[in-house]
Amino acid sequence: MDYFRTLRPLFTISQHWIRPRYCSNVAKSSVTSRERKFKSHISSGPNFQDFLKGVSVPKTPAADGQDCDTHSYLSEELHMGNSRKVYFETYGCQMNVSDTEIAWSILQRKGYQRTADLSEADVVLLVTCSIRDKAEQTIWNRLQQLTAMKKRRLKTRTPMKIGILGCMAERLKVEILEREKLVDVLAGPDAYRDLPRLLTVAEGGQQASNVLLSLEETYADVMPVQHAPQGHSAFVSIMRGCDNMCSYCIVPFTRGRERSRPVSSILEEVRMLSDQGVKEVTLLGQNVNSYRDTSEEQFCGSDLTQLSRGFKTVYRTKQGGLRFSDLLDRVSCIDPDMRIRFTSPHPKDFPDEVLHLIAERRNICQQIHLPAQSGSSKILKAMRRGYTREAYLDLVRNIKTIIPEVSLSSDFISGFCGETEDDHQQTLSLIREVGYNVGFLFAYSMRKKTHAFHRLQDDVPAEVKQRRLEECISVFREEAAKVNAALVGSTELVLVEGESKRSAKDLCGRTDGNVKVIFPKEDVAVQPEDSDMAPVNAGDYVLVKISSANSQSLRGRAISHSSLGDRAKHYETVQTAV
Ligand code: SAH
Ligand code: SF4
Ligand code: F3S
Repeated sequence: MDYFRTLRPLFTISQHWIRPRYCSNVAKSSVTSRERKFKSHISSGPNFQDFLKGVSVPKTPAADGQDCDTHSYLSEELHMGNSRKVYFETYGCQMNVSDTEIAWSILQRKGYQRTADLSEADVVLLVTCSIRDKAEQTIWNRLQQLTAMKKRRLKTRTPMKIGILGCMAERLKVEILEREKLVDVLAGPDAYRDLPRLLTVAEGGQQASNVLLSLEETYADVMPVQHAPQGHSAFVSIMRGCDNMCSYCIVPFTRGRERSRPVSSILEEVRMLSDQGVKEVTLLGQNVNSYRDTSEEQFCGSDLTQLSRGFKTVYRTKQGGLRFSDLLDRVSCIDPDMRIRFTSPHPKDFPDEVLHLIAERRNICQQIHLPAQSGSSKILKAMRRGYTREAYLDLVRNIKTIIPEVSLSSDFISGFCGETEDDHQQTLSLIREVGYNVGFLFAYSMRKKTHAFHRLQDDVPAEVKQRRLEECISVFREEAAKVNAALVGSTELVLVEGESKRSAKDLCGRTDGNVKVIFPKEDVAVQPEDSDMAPVNAGDYVLVKISSANSQSLRGRAISHSSLGDRAKHYETVQTAV
């Protein structure tokens, strides 16, 4: 059913327009009726840009038309960083980690420098999250500290500028600038190209903001600068925004409509990472398996597989183009020794072709994040997830049939509107039935603007939410401990991340199923059954014999160096023998 069309459009396209003032304060940026009239008059005539040369025009088409000082007439030279030092602090999900690299890439091109030392920063940028109230409280507290630091710095040397980027900038817009007078810059997730200009305005002593959402911004041409690739792993953003409108979730409001980055741009980034020696890439998006690159004409396969299995979608799905399975196929062909993971998929978009590809392609990890959110069909309906408990469990069975070795992880919310003890028990039983090895569990936090905020009652008391959450965590741990214990005695191919945090004598890495493995740091055979020994470094693949397990990790001993190719050969030999 196409619910989305019955809703008021969230984001409508508006045109940029010129404000006859050099550096206007954001508090003055709300659109008056006179300005609206003026805008409608000029929209049919030539644009102000037509009369100027060398002006910078934000490329992004605006999507909600609010709260943006365009200042497009500031010249390009004024947007230069002049070696000013930028310090980033990133909160929230992996999308923000990836966005930090995009924002940094844009600033680096303009001559900014990056620093890891807050005390020498000229510009401090917080990349923020709004998913739960607690996430926002963390930022408010941090802002208090930073503004106190900024006040102290005013007396000593060049003033420090503070910028709020990401989802909280988008959700709260000018409220932040009004509440925290010392914040200089506000940039929503689709406005990072505009950062150099915003910082220039801020340098002139004015607050500056751009929180326009876009229908098409994917930063496809901005190669993110991987600042500190961790253990030879990198995140590659493949899409932005989300159209799912789960009733509890703020993301569609902070990140806007779903759009996919073109395949060619993704492949280029993955090739570049492979050349740099990156061994593991995680494809990122809020809803990765609904990926669709419609810039490619090809149409691949049927779209109706999942919908006929008890899953429905609230929006009109796009047709044609290259889909997630095509992308996964192409990405996994780039480097047979590079592991490919993806997160987050939505249970509604798991056609068998994706599952078969995961089962067949040795470098696509047999690990699926399958966010359930609840085990009760009644609550799933209130959450607008588009599936029932039964449809979810059928999907789990199908996944386990096609990929018998699969590792599953999930997200759950405790204490959603109307959740009874019986609903909660159903969630506990679903966690037991599936047997995940990793879980992300949260107490429900009401977010303004969402469907739940307008239509449902946040009626589960805080202490009940907390108690249910703790019960979910303890069942999760029990099940994860069982799943991990089943690996004791097996030999796992581990990608080494580096030294273990607990002891410099140990190394740590991850299995194909994304379970952490700790093992002693010692030289091992260069390949299985070889007598030559070599040290083990971050980015190496090693075979580790597992000796013990708990709910969080495995312990074992490395036997030899290895590679994903070796693993493929190993499996082929075993299969032929069978
Ligand atoms: N697109 C991803 C989720 C991104 S948000 C997905 O659908 O899997 C990550 C998780 O935060 C969600 O899966 C959900 O479990 C949790 N979450 C989202 N909104 C929440 C809220 N209002 N209160 C508590 N948890 C929430
Ligand atoms: Fe939020 Fe649902 Fe979109 Fe995930 S799929 S980001 S939970 S609206
Ligand atoms: Fe948070 Fe925005 Fe990610 S709200 S979870 S940073 S998409």
